[in-house]
Amino acid sequence: MSHKIAVLPGDGIGTEIVAQAVRVLRALDVPLELETALVGGAAYEAHGHPLPEATLNLAKAADAILFGAVGDWKFDKLERALRPEQAILGLRKHLGLFANFRPALCYEQLTHASSLKPELVAGLDILIIRELTGDIYFGQPRGRRTAVDGHFPGSEEAFDTMRYSKPEIERIAHVAFQAAQKRSKRVTSVDKANVLETFQFWKDVVTEVHASYPDVELDHMYVDNAAMQLVKAPKKFDVVVTGNMFGDILSDEAAMLTGSIGMLPSASLDKNNKGLYEPSHGSAPDIAGKDMANPLATILSAAMMLRFTLQQPEAADRIESAVKSVLSAGFRTADIWSEGTTKVGTRAMGDAVVAALTTTKTITKS
Ligand code: IPM
Ligand code: MG
Repeated sequence: MSHKIAVLPGDGIGTEIVAQAVRVLRALDVPLELETALVGGAAYEAHGHPLPEATLNLAKAADAILFGAVGDWKFDKLERALRPEQAILGLRKHLGLFANFRPALCYEQLTHASSLKPELVAGLDILIIRELTGDIYFGQPRGRRTAVDGHFPGSEEAFDTMRYSKPEIERIAHVAFQAAQKRSKRVTSVDKANVLETFQFWKDVVTEVHASYPDVELDHMYVDNAAMQLVKAPKKFDVVVTGNMFGDILSDEAAMLTGSIGMLPSASLDKNNKGLYEPSHGSAPDIAGKDMANPLATILSAAMMLRFTLQQPEAADRIESAVKSVLSAGFRTADIWSEGTTKVGTRAMGDAVVAALTTTKTITKS
């Protein structure tokens, strides 16, 4: 059976990095039907909307989505509903992609690329699980109005709503505990229960769900402390589960610990493990079209797709070993380059991974 993949490259470096991931996917012996559509600013320019109906329908009909990145400063002045970011928010919402996996893995070959001391990050392997369809990102009501109370009644004000229902917290807690069962069986739930009602509730519900996972250790941490501990002793964390807003911030922080956001993939899953796979980094319009971007995060996202949605763990392993062998051979895009290694462009990095895949295939077959 062939799997249907919606390929949504998006803006900026999106098209270049996705092209390399597609080459890698095609080099595998997994039957895939790939169909490409516009998304983000590119879709807005062509069709007047960042998430056109046809793109959304393609994404809905597909088994999995390979996504590049969206956004460009030139769209910053558009009304919010038409900005490129709405495409990714819309896909998350319409497809019910509530569980976001953001691994922060420090590759042995890149330990020195971190801004932290090598001994703090060597072997780092954290999994941030961010709730992705609730919280203040989607909570209604939101908007602008004239204040009737507060510090300045009568003045203009803006407001958003932070909210989580019990089932929303329960399902992400289950995802986190189950992910932890496959790792070192430790979960840190990050909240702000000392101040926010929503996050006292979060903490209570996560604690309740934990009762069904006696083999997993759970601790709770306030988000400010978590931000601090992540730079102080990141290796103390294993699985971190948190809400949409805190997860947005902490996952960028965790990614940077590895020194190479260009290396980190992500998965956003629905309740049936259908998923959208994208690099953790953005569209980097400043280096777009220059054959400079690092395609490895997208290539590794394709590996996550094979593992989580397509149930092809061997193919996923092959991609991941190919990436490691390319790093060991010294190939580096500009973002991870250091003295003594070989600087390559986006396409040449793709070539190297495809070549390494062929080698691993030969090895496994002999
Ligand atoms: C992310 C991004 C998005 C978010 C933006 C582009 C809407 O920062 O995926 O982390 O805030 O969720
Ligand atoms: Mg973010």
